[in-house]
Amino acid sequence: MTAGREAWGLTHLLGTEGLAAEDAVKVLDTAEVFFEVSRRPVRKAPTLRGKTVVNLFFEPSTRTRTSFEIAGKRLSADVVNISASSSSVSKGESLLDTVKNLDAMQPDILVVRHTASGAPHYVASRTRAHVINAGDGTHEHPTQALLDAFTIRRSLGRIAGLTVAICGDVAHSRVARSNAMLLTTLGAKVHFAGPRTLLPPAPDAYPVTTFDRIEPALEGADVVMVLRIQRERMAGALLPSLREYARKFGLNAARLARAKPDAIVMHPGPINRGVEIDGSLADGPRSVILDQVEAGVAVRMALLYLLSAEPGQAPLA
Ligand code: CP
Repeated sequence: MTAGREAWGLTHLLGTEGLAAEDAVKVLDTAEVFFEVSRRPVRKAPTLRGKTVVNLFFEPSTRTRTSFEIAGKRLSADVVNISASSSSVSKGESLLDTVKNLDAMQPDILVVRHTASGAPHYVASRTRAHVINAGDGTHEHPTQALLDAFTIRRSLGRIAGLTVAICGDVAHSRVARSNAMLLTTLGAKVHFAGPRTLLPPAPDAYPVTTFDRIEPALEGADVVMVLRIQRERMAGALLPSLREYARKFGLNAARLARAKPDAIVMHPGPINRGVEIDGSLADGPRSVILDQVEAGVAVRMALLYLLSAEPGQAPLA
């Protein structure tokens, strides 16, 4: 299924825009190997012994940071976690000086989350390490899109030909952007749906169909991906109220009935229950939300391996 990591050929993972289909499929196929490892009684492989992974998070995270830490440890890498509040960034040290100092310690991979769009690209230009974008501003969240694609493929058996409705606060969502790029590259049809104030200002920039009501976007969908209302990123009053949003755009049973009977429900987390999604749907039989979280470890193990294993090294060697 997987050859050595040289077959992937990427130095960094900064986004899904421009990511070739064969490179994305390589990640998904490699993640299958690590998914099985993660379900064994002993969830450990020696693959990255002697390698160092630094998780550099300038923004809060539960799923991404923890799963990168678990992924690195399951591959026997040394994993170091740095957050802005516990680093010298809180004393005013710049991003450049932070990166130069970390680079001097010779890490193999820097996993970077930052509030500023483009920060991981800047880091990549200033370090000898491989850089993985763990979410930058409203720009991209490529590892989330890859784990979403992995989850869709495992749940429905394919990605090509499916209709994926991405609903909610699209304008502020790096998850929506990364998924739109990746899923269309892999042959899916993508719908964006949300209030006009929360849709991208230039929707033609994306290979998607845009709807300002949720119902037509869900018609016949195979996948319903609900996005979080990002109160922290809203510069102005873009919504009358959260209650009004839930009434007009929240995913409930009546709206989900417009999708295919076997459609799956996804959410990248964290969830605002009762706002963008009913709690009963988030916990219901069609929800794959926790499958997404489980997939996150396997996909991030695959990325750490593909970027930093020795040429020709097998995934579990
Ligand atoms: N999906 C996601 O990025 O979650 P966290 O912010 O908890 O990492």
